[in-house]
Amino acid sequence: MTTTLDSDPLASTLRQLYAAADAQRRGPRRRRESDKSRSAQQRADDASEVYMPIDPDAGRLLYSLVRATQPTVVVEFGMSFGISTLHLAAAVRDNGSGRVVTTELSADKVAAAQATFDRVGVSDVIEVRVGDALDTLQNIDSPVGFVLLDGWKEMYLPVLNLLEDRLPSGTLVAADNAGHAETGAYLDHVRDPAHGYVSFNFPSKQGDSMELSLKA
Ligand SMILES: C[S@@+](CC[C@H](N)C(=O)[O-])C[C@H]1O[C@@H](n2cnc3c(N)ncnc32)[C@H](O)[C@@H]1O
Repeated sequence: MTTTLDSDPLASTLRQLYAAADAQRRGPRRRRESDKSRSAQQRADDASEVYMPIDPDAGRLLYSLVRATQPTVVVEFGMSFGISTLHLAAAVRDNGSGRVVTTELSADKVAAAQATFDRVGVSDVIEVRVGDALDTLQNIDSPVGFVLLDGWKEMYLPVLNLLEDRLPSGTLVAADNAGHAETGAYLDHVRDPAHGYVSFNFPSKQGDSMELSLKA
C-alpha cells in the first residue's frame, strides 16, 4: 500500500510547501518574531509569512509514530502553514480513525493552511482552532494520544501543563526545536522522572534537536 503521505495530492503539496520554505530561508531574513519584548500575538503576526517547518525527516518520524500509536486525538501546538499538520493528518487518514486538533495565532496562516487542507482533501480529519493555545486547547474532551509542540518555545511547558491531565499512559509528546534556550523549563520538567515521563533527545535540523517524551 502506498501511504497518503507518499501519494498525491498530499506528497506533491508537501514538496511545494518545502520548496517555498527553503526559498524563503535562503532569502533576506526577518527576525522580529524572536523579539521577546513583543507579545505572542504580535510575534505571530510579524511572522505571518514565515514557514518555520519541521524537517522532512522529522515529519516522516511523526507520521510513523502516529501510525504506530493509533491515537484518537492528536494535538498540535503551532500549525503555521500546516506542513507538520499534513504529516499528522496523513497518518490519521491511514490509521482509519482519529483526528488532529491544531492551533495557530496567525489568522493569515490559518486561512492559507485551511485552503491547503481543503485542496488536499484532509479537512475532515483536521480541526483548526484559531487563537492562543492556552485558550483554544482548554476544552479537548477525549484523551489525547499524541502531542506535537512547535509554537513559541517558552509556551511548551504551559501548554503541556494545560493538557497533562488528559494524557493517558502511553501518550507521546514530541517537542521540536528542543535546542532553543527557551525550552529549558520544559526539558527540566519532562526529564525529571518524578513527573512521569521517559524522555530522550535526538538531533533534528542543523544544530537543533527534538525531545520525545513518553507518558509512562
Ligand atoms: C515553528 S512554527 C510551526 C511550524 C509548523 N509546526 C510546521 O511544521 O509547519 C510556530 C507557529 O506557532 C504559532 N504560535 C506561537 N505561539 C502560539 C500560541 N500561543 N498559540 C497558537 N499558535 C502559536 C506561530 O504563530 C507560528 O506560526
